[in-house]
Amino acid sequence: MKLQGKKAWITGASSGIGQATARALAAEGADLIISARREERLTELATELQAQGRSVTVAPVDVSERAGMEAVGETIKSQGGVDILINNAGTMPISPIINGRVDEWEQMIDTNIKGVLYAINAVYPGMAERKDGHIVNISSVAARLTYQSAGVYGGTKHAVRAISDTLRKEAIRFGVRVTDIQPGSVDTELPDSIAHDKIRAAVKDNMYGEDMPNLKPEDIANGIIYAVTQPPYVDVSELLIRPVIQEN
Ligand SMILES: NC(=O)c1ccc[n+]([C@@H]2O[C@H](COP(=O)([O-])OP(=O)(O)OC[C@H]3O[C@@H](n4cnc5c(N)ncnc54)[C@H](OP(=O)(O)O)[C@@H]3O)[C@@H](O)[C@H]2O)c1
Repeated sequence: MKLQGKKAWITGASSGIGQATARALAAEGADLIISARREERLTELATELQAQGRSVTVAPVDVSERAGMEAVGETIKSQGGVDILINNAGTMPISPIINGRVDEWEQMIDTNIKGVLYAINAVYPGMAERKDGHIVNISSVAARLTYQSAGVYGGTKHAVRAISDTLRKEAIRFGVRVTDIQPGSVDTELPDSIAHDKIRAAVKDNMYGEDMPNLKPEDIANGIIYAVTQPPYVDVSELLIRPVIQEN
């Protein structure tokens, strides 16, 4: 167990990559604080991991709400801080920009960018004070490329990658490492967040078709475990993980 005695905060732990990462971190001995909006799912996960001997705190929050995130930050502080942040919560209600679905743009910007920043702000001061910490931001292959109908989503993920690399440069001298994880297609609930019926159907068809086997959330969790278990002099700055069949 490589993370015994460490504590990690995971946002978006109620499903997909976040849930798999919570399990993987717990299997390495880490204690956890788990967040998302669906409290019932978090409680189920906490019960499962507590049965394995881990300490797990359920901290339900909407990451796009600054006050709520500051309150979780206070809870974390009162528990002595965290060693690792998995900044994973995200949403993908994609559609062509020319369709002008402004509410969905705001939802993505508020969740995928502001939520990521609020989480960083909640843990960074404590990490810097202890001169030890690791912030793992989940961006996407869409942080490197552009895809039609995913302009705003891709914009949020390009922003996360830029934030990650800038924070890496700023924080490293204070003992805080930063990793940007860029998943390709992973089989999760993410396409359910697409409200545009035609695009949701097209994405699900592409993601779940037999000719396009996706990654499993556990494949991304394995990459995260690799990043957070390196010796102190190693900085895994970025990891791009695609299914073999995904060209772009
Ligand atoms: N799946 C892919 O192919 C893929 C590829 C590249 C990047 N990613 C990124 O990976 C991350 C995880 O996504 P996933 O694929 O695991 O999808 P998922 O199964 O839909 O998980 C998304 C998680 O984010 C949480 N979440 C969404 N909005 C939230 C909000 N406003 N406040 C708090 N929590 C919120 C959800 O929990 P609640 O609904 O309970 O709040 C859920 O736990 C996202 O950042 C996504 O953009 C995924």
